[in-house]
Amino acid sequence: MTQNTWGWSDRLSLSYAPMDDIHHEFVELCAALSENNPDTFIQRLDALIAHSIEHFEQENCWMEETAFPPAGCHRQEHEAVLEVMREVRRRVEEEGDTELAARLAEELPHWFEHHVDTMDNMLARFMANLTADASSADVQEKAPA
Ligand SMILES: [Fe+2]
Ligand SMILES: [Fe+2]
Repeated sequence: MTQNTWGWSDRLSLSYAPMDDIHHEFVELCAALSENNPDTFIQRLDALIAHSIEHFEQENCWMEETAFPPAGCHRQEHEAVLEVMREVRRRVEEEGDTELAARLAEELPHWFEHHVDTMDNMLARFMANLTADASSADVQEKAPA
């Protein structure tokens, strides 16, 4: 993966449109972190953090609504990566650590791909199955006896 060309690809699609829409936005903001412009790094990171808070909150809500079994693990991954983003933000702002900024821009796409392949994939499938079960129960209910 070349950092400069990282972006949305079909391999990231989970066939659950509301989640894919959120992920498109994450990918765009995350890819923007690798722009070589130290003056705007904090601004770009703030945009990604703001997005991620909402992104993760939405997934946490879906997990609550559906009683998703590994919710704790999934939630923890969200919190851990947010903590990393905030820590990097602090060190870039206070210490001007541009190397760390570059490392975050390089590592986050890997984190995201792994997270999508595992936690988000499981959640999307779980929700798709619930929807399929609900609509087949609906069909059975409506079917003439
Ligand atoms: Fe996600
Ligand atoms: Fe997630």
